[in-house]
Amino acid sequence: MKVFAALPAGSQPVPRYPDYVSTALRNPKQPLVIVPQTLSELTGPVYGHGPIAETDNDLTRQGAQEPHGERIIVRGRVLDEGGRPVANTLVEIWQANAGGRYRHSNDNHPAPLDPNFTGAGRTMTDAEGRYTFTTIKPGPYPWRNHYNAWRPAHIHFSLFGTSFLSRLVTQMYFPDDPLFPYDPIMQSIPDEQARQRLISRFDLEASRPEWALAFRFNIVLRGRDATPFENKP
Ligand SMILES: [Fe+2]
Repeated sequence: MKVFAALPAGSQPVPRYPDYVSTALRNPKQPLVIVPQTLSELTGPVYGHGPIAETDNDLTRQGAQEPHGERIIVRGRVLDEGGRPVANTLVEIWQANAGGRYRHSNDNHPAPLDPNFTGAGRTMTDAEGRYTFTTIKPGPYPWRNHYNAWRPAHIHFSLFGTSFLSRLVTQMYFPDDPLFPYDPIMQSIPDEQARQRLISRFDLEASRPEWALAFRFNIVLRGRDATPFENKP
């Protein structure tokens, strides 16, 4: 069995962070008990290439017309603790539309829905661990964690490892967002350098003239430079 080095102190979110109110409800007070994976969990179904449609990684082409908002390209690589590419892994995203509204029954934020924007996408990494999405830059949105609480613009990411049990979930932010200091989800990660690893970088090289700006977001699954992942049991 491969044993991975412990993550550096402060590089991951604090599971129970008082300013991020709902962490008290969804994180245990006791240390976790590690349950060994069984054969069925290790060999269970995973998404293959087949079910992924051509427009699954282009959220601007999933409706009858283009969605409203700023078209962007988000690309990056999925890497392991040694900087090696993680090939053929499923990357899923979900996000609010340009007005900061999710297409979800729980989202009652009074901003318009966009009939041409699902906010959901998925793709597989290639042999070099690369992924690309075309989407709309999400808007910030209010949430009721505390008075006048607004989330910085972000895209949720989910990655699967060798089984559904090894799913990792995180959020990608955009450079220079003024809401960072007021966001307890980001601030629940003690280490400043670790927080910086959640912020995408402007990527002029990947931008397409007269069409879209681009942002680069690499995801490191383990090790010293690991991306902070969410502590949701
Ligand atoms: Fe969100």
